[in-house]
Amino acid sequence: MEPASPQTGATLTLFWIVGIVAAVIFAFVAGWIVWNIVKYRAKPGDPEPPQEYGNVKLELTWTAVPILIIVFLFFASLVTMLKIDPLQSTSPQPDVVVTAHQWWWDVRYPNLRVRTANEIHVPVGRRLYFQIDSADVIHDFWVPQLTRKIDAIPGHPNYVWMNVDTPGVYRGTCAEFCGAQHAHMRIRVVAQTEEDFEAWAKQQAEVAPKPTTELAKKGLEHFSAMACPSCHAILGVPGAGGAIGPDLTHLASRATLASGTILNTPENLRRWLAEPDAIKPGSHMPNFHLDAHQLDALTAYLETLQ
Ligand code: CUA
Repeated sequence: MEPASPQTGATLTLFWIVGIVAAVIFAFVAGWIVWNIVKYRAKPGDPEPPQEYGNVKLELTWTAVPILIIVFLFFASLVTMLKIDPLQSTSPQPDVVVTAHQWWWDVRYPNLRVRTANEIHVPVGRRLYFQIDSADVIHDFWVPQLTRKIDAIPGHPNYVWMNVDTPGVYRGTCAEFCGAQHAHMRIRVVAQTEEDFEAWAKQQAEVAPKPTTELAKKGLEHFSAMACPSCHAILGVPGAGGAIGPDLTHLASRATLASGTILNTPENLRRWLAEPDAIKPGSHMPNFHLDAHQLDALTAYLETLQ
């Protein structure tokens, strides 16, 4: 009910139009029925009422009026659809490619060479074309204040326009049941001014900083020696190019972990590494049964990924 984009603004307007038309029809029909029940109630001794067959005027009225209402609603829907999905002769290149996974969102900006997860930064006032994909089952991308729902179907990309009016953080979620952690597939859209967005994108495109402390260096060694790089990418770390799990190049710059399940604090990150299943049962992040030192070192390293 609080639209923050022209797309959801148009949807809300249509909602009110349909809602008001439906309310008026309901009030009229229900009111008329009640009025007739009261006024024409049979009393003892009443004669049989006159029997009506084939009243042309009445039948024309109750056929024409609903048709006019439906035609009106049809055109109101058409106008709204054209505002949300403008006609285009060729499909433009997507500005953002979102790929749903069980249970998180991969986010790529093909023109900016930026890859992140679960947190989508957008500049305000610019119309962006989103490609919505899935890597496994059917999910559904939905940020209520910004876009309509759009299914994420494996092998069948869908597209949706979005332009955010005012800076702020907008929350979204997966809207199609997709397994055990469907409820923990949150989306955070961070809408920023053009300058703030440019600065963010420039920073995100950079390779990960080299760790400087002994503990963090040790953490990077653990990361590279274990199976981590086969699932997670970190730009600048040789061999770390996996795309099964979220890109970690700038993990520490994100507000939440595990797709909005927990806040991104060092303590939570350590808990997540120690036992992902305790935080997100069914998560595909394996439990490596790390010892305390490995946990400290990995946490120290991952916290450097600003
Ligand atoms: Cu993904 Cu529900």
